[in-house]
Amino acid sequence: MRAQAVAQPNIALVKYWGKRDAERNLPAAGSLSLTLDTLWTKMAVELEETAEADTLTVNGAGNDKMLGRVSTCLDHLLGPGRAKAAVESESNFPIAAGLASSSSAFAALVVAASKAGESPADTLSLARWAGAASGSAARSFHEGIVELHADDDEIDVRSIASVEDWPLRVVIAVTESAPKAVGSGEAMIRSAATSPFYRSWVERQDEDLSMAREAVRDRDFEKLAAVSEHNCLKMHSVMWTSRPPVVYWNEATLNSMETVVQLRRAGAPVFFTVDAGPQVKAVCLPSACDTVSAALAATGGVTKVIVSGLGRGARLLERG
Ligand code: PMV
Repeated sequence: MRAQAVAQPNIALVKYWGKRDAERNLPAAGSLSLTLDTLWTKMAVELEETAEADTLTVNGAGNDKMLGRVSTCLDHLLGPGRAKAAVESESNFPIAAGLASSSSAFAALVVAASKAGESPADTLSLARWAGAASGSAARSFHEGIVELHADDDEIDVRSIASVEDWPLRVVIAVTESAPKAVGSGEAMIRSAATSPFYRSWVERQDEDLSMAREAVRDRDFEKLAAVSEHNCLKMHSVMWTSRPPVVYWNEATLNSMETVVQLRRAGAPVFFTVDAGPQVKAVCLPSACDTVSAALAATGGVTKVIVSGLGRGARLLERG
């Protein structure tokens, strides 16, 4: 009745920002991401027939903030009559700070809970359960470069390049590790309801996805850089034009983006992306990784640099 799983967060290059169906948490459009390897979340789930309520600890401390989402996810996966769960989460990076912690957390939770609840399912079904809790979590079930389709009433998700196919690196410039003020779920709903740019953002996603897919197929770094930076800035434009505005950047975010742009001008194969938080993720070829890390570490306001390659999908750990 106890199982443990591990998952790595993923960073989107073509972003998910907006829901087709808020109740089922279905994304309004597809997305494309990189699964990381250095960062991880481990989730242990123990189902206890006699317990009266679910409990959640995050890195050893009780956490009631996330508990509601965790319980809802378990209800969907195991059914409302399920045994209550003691859930222990452990991460080696700051949570809820724009480092995609919900993607690894809900992917690992679903894998561990389906084993603990003796409710086996295929990877796509598990990814759909996790996606219902956090849209980006569905992508953490696959390795390397991952594409999520949202054409019909359900999502589909698959790896389009393995870790070996294109061994990109991601250098994360951490500029702030406190949790963000507005969660992505709430902010997306606000954007859909108020940003004058939201509709055209959703309408143009397929175009960006095709371009990114072609860039991955052809291992065309410049093309991937162009579409990824464009897509990132477009998503933040939608956030900024929401009412009230959603602004996740700080001064060091802008400094880091400028560092990346300068490096590229000087010939380094690198581009930036920024999610619902102030951290900057610089995606580069392995040859540029040391230069990019050193330049970001020396950028004003950057408190820490984390270097990652591409990693594998969510999986059970042998010893629960
Ligand atoms: O999965 P969520 O609900 O935390 O939303 C993720 C939103 C972004 O990280 C900004 C974009 C993305 O595609 O991951």
